[in-house]
Amino acid sequence: MRILEIASEAVPFAKTGGLADVAGALPEALARLGCETTLVVPAYREALAKSLAIEPTDMVFDVPIGTRLLPARILRARLPDARAEVYLVANDHCFDRPTLYGGARDYADNAERFIFFSRAALELACRLGRRFDVIHCHDWQTGLVPAYRRLMFGDHAAVAAARTVMTVHNMAYQGLFWHWDMLLTGLDWKHFNWQEMEFHGQLNLLKTGIVFADAVTTVSPTYAREIQTAPGGCGLEGVLASRGDVLTGIVNGIDTTLWDPAADRHIPRPYSAADVDLGKYAARVALAARLGHPAPDARPLVAFVGRLVAQKGVDLLVEVMGRMAGTGRAHFMILGTGDPAVEEGLARVAAAFPGTVDLVIGFDEGLAHLVQAAADITLVPSVFEPCGLTQLYAFRYGAIPVVRSTGGLIDTVVDATPETIADGTATGFRFDACTAIALERALERALDAHADPEPWRALVRRVMRQDWSWDASGREYLRLFQRILAAPPAVVA
Ligand code: ADP
Ligand code: GLC
Repeated sequence: MRILEIASEAVPFAKTGGLADVAGALPEALARLGCETTLVVPAYREALAKSLAIEPTDMVFDVPIGTRLLPARILRARLPDARAEVYLVANDHCFDRPTLYGGARDYADNAERFIFFSRAALELACRLGRRFDVIHCHDWQTGLVPAYRRLMFGDHAAVAAARTVMTVHNMAYQGLFWHWDMLLTGLDWKHFNWQEMEFHGQLNLLKTGIVFADAVTTVSPTYAREIQTAPGGCGLEGVLASRGDVLTGIVNGIDTTLWDPAADRHIPRPYSAADVDLGKYAARVALAARLGHPAPDARPLVAFVGRLVAQKGVDLLVEVMGRMAGTGRAHFMILGTGDPAVEEGLARVAAAFPGTVDLVIGFDEGLAHLVQAAADITLVPSVFEPCGLTQLYAFRYGAIPVVRSTGGLIDTVVDATPETIADGTATGFRFDACTAIALERALERALDAHADPEPWRALVRRVMRQDWSWDASGREYLRLFQRILAAPPAVVA
């Protein structure tokens, strides 16, 4: 099967969050399952600045964007050991910028940038001299692709028979732009209606993808249910429910090569379930040194790694740290970047409890690995969470997750209750209410459990031995692709 994956970020080229982890690993997983997989990503400044094997090709073409033509230069990455083929779409005006999507504010021309990218990816597909079976799109940045395939590229042999799959990683980001950006798409105004591309007077690129794709997926079964009702659907619950027959949830996997405590260049001493205590101690020493402490703190280390935005429940965390840091029960370590107001709130708590709350503002891949290796407990107190990868990385590095019961966190973490502890299925601690007190109680439960070394060690070893690799999820995507190829293409209302 020939699969074209199109994503706005992918490891190792560029990353702001979990989408990059998925878009980097899934094409490889599909290739391992015997698919011929091609990934297309933008050639951001970040990607070109890394010393990756990226080389020019002779493919250069113009992409019509409104009344202008924007040139696309196609580059090709040849990463060692990669099975999937990777192309990057270069255009300095669009992608030679300091960040992927903007800073505190999004770039004003993000519609143009990703309309260009979506159309260029399909133009590229038509120049590769083969026929694709499935075109797999991720998030609003590629939402136009299913519409383009159907309305503009339907006659091109390379994609004429291809089915499109739209994967939603987060309903909170829909690619909403003013209606005049419709002109940039080159599509007829007749599609700017409430059943297709329009949403409350604006152009909605994610809705476009959901409406025009042959199948829609999201990144966990629970989130697939949550988004078909308010507030999970963020206004698109009706559209999603109307596509309920083709909407499924497939839990993400993790790249077990990049995230492997037994072979991780970001941690000082590799470890496995058998010698986790030694590995964690070495990571604690290295982390303490990195943070300027003379020695590691003997108290349990409670960590948070993530985007500092409302979704991640950071305000609960600020409140709980404010109350718990004074009790001396735990040491907190926060790594993240995001909303300046959220960053300031955290900075105030860190300043109030030096030696108990460490805060690093910034995006640091290596430090994320070191923190997971050093941590005893990893917090994921999200308000909503489509899948979440940090809890899966926490498992692999022997940190026990404390998570809110929402979305993919429900599907991946089994709460420690007397029953699940007795039958050996517990993998973490969950709380239901989106309140600081609920988080605090769950964290207290985890810290109580940590105080009993033998059962805790058994829990740590067990979570480390779970298999969250892409094998199972990759197979699920493949089954979905086979199913939609066997069925007639979906018809848009
Ligand atoms: P989301 O995609 O919503 O941000 P996920 O849990 O799916 O959440 O994925 C987050 C990914 O981003 C993980 O790989 C995590 O380690 C990484 N990450 C988030 N913030 C940072 C940061 N400040 N530094 C390094 N890695 C980060
Ligand atoms: C999104 C979600 C996160 C998910 C990631 C990868 O950013 O917020 O829950 O794990 O995408 O699918």
